[in-house]
Amino acid sequence: MNKFENKVALISGGSRGVGYAIANRLVDAGAKVVISARGAKRLEDSAARLRQKGGKVVAVTGDIGKWEDAKRMVNAAIDEFGRLDILVNNAGVSMRGDFADLSGEVCSRVIATNLTGSVNLSRIAMEHLIEARGSLVFISSIAGLFGLPGASVYCASKMALTGLCESLRLELIPKGVHVGVVYLGFTEHDPEKRILSASGELILPDRPAHHSQDKAGKLVVDLITKRKRQVVMTPIGSLGWFAHRLSPLLVEKVVLWAKESQIGLFKSFR
Ligand SMILES: NC(=O)c1ccc[n+]([C@@H]2O[C@H](COP(=O)([O-])OP(=O)(O)OC[C@H]3O[C@@H](n4cnc5c(N)ncnc54)[C@H](OP(=O)(O)O)[C@@H]3O)[C@@H](O)[C@H]2O)c1
Repeated sequence: MNKFENKVALISGGSRGVGYAIANRLVDAGAKVVISARGAKRLEDSAARLRQKGGKVVAVTGDIGKWEDAKRMVNAAIDEFGRLDILVNNAGVSMRGDFADLSGEVCSRVIATNLTGSVNLSRIAMEHLIEARGSLVFISSIAGLFGLPGASVYCASKMALTGLCESLRLELIPKGVHVGVVYLGFTEHDPEKRILSASGELILPDRPAHHSQDKAGKLVVDLITKRKRQVVMTPIGSLGWFAHRLSPLLVEKVVLWAKESQIGLFKSFR
C-alpha cells in the first residue's frame, strides 16, 4: 500500500515550482491532491500532468490572501474527497530592494501572500486537520532564519510563519496534529518565476540555485511522513542557522561583509 493512500493534501501554489514538486511527490506516494494558484492556465496544465500519471487531482484558482478564495480551496478538498489530512502552505512571493525604496503595494502584497495567505488557509483548514490528526506544513526560507538586507518584508513574512508554526504546534500537539516547517535554500526555479522589485515590477529572480525543486519536494514529503518539526535545507542554511543561534552579531558581520564584497548570494542583492 502506498504511504499516503486515502490521504488528501492541499498544496497552495501547486501550479509550478516547489509547490508542483511537492504535489508530484505526494501523488507518487498515493495521496489525492488539491492544488491552487491564481493563474488558471498554468494550474490546469499542471493538474493535467499529475492526472496523466494517475493522480486524483483538483485545481482551484484563487488568491490565498483573500479569505473567500482560501475557503474555496479548503472546501474543494472536502467536497471532492471528503477529508483533508495535509495542508502545505507553500505559495509565496519574494521581493528585492532596500526598505526605504519599497512601494506600499509591494509591502502589502508580500505580507498578504506569505503571511495572511498562510493564516487564512491554516485557520479554515483547522477543524479538518484536527479531525484527520493530520499535518500542517509551512514552507519558509533561509530568509526566515535571520535578516537579509534587501529582503526585509520577505524576511519579516517568513519569520512570522515561524511564530505561527510554533504557536500552532503547542495548540495542536494535544490534538494529534503534526506541525512542521521547512526552511528552503535557494531552489532552481521555473522560467516563469518572478519576484517583486522595490517599485512592484515583476522581475527575474537574481540568485543562484543550490538544489532542485524535486529535492525540496522529497524533503517536504519526508517531513510529513516522519512528522518532523523542522528541516533546514542546504549546508549554508544549516551553518547560518547554527551560527545565528550562537552569535547573531557574527552573522550580521558576515552578511554585511558578503553584501559589501558582492559575493555568493549577494552578488546582485542591491
Ligand atoms: N525558489 C526558492 O529559491 C525559494 C527559496 C526559499 C523559499 N522559497 C519559498 O518556497 C515557496 C515556493 O517558491 P517557488 O520558487 O516555487 O515560487 P514560484 O515558482 O513563484 O511559485 C509560486 C506559486 O504560488 C502561486 N501563488 C503566488 N501568489 C499566490 C497567491 N496570492 N495566491 C495563490 N497562489 C499564489 C503561484 O501561482 P500564481 O502566480 O499563478 O498565483 C505559484 O503556483 C514560496 O513560499 C517561497 O517563498 C522558495
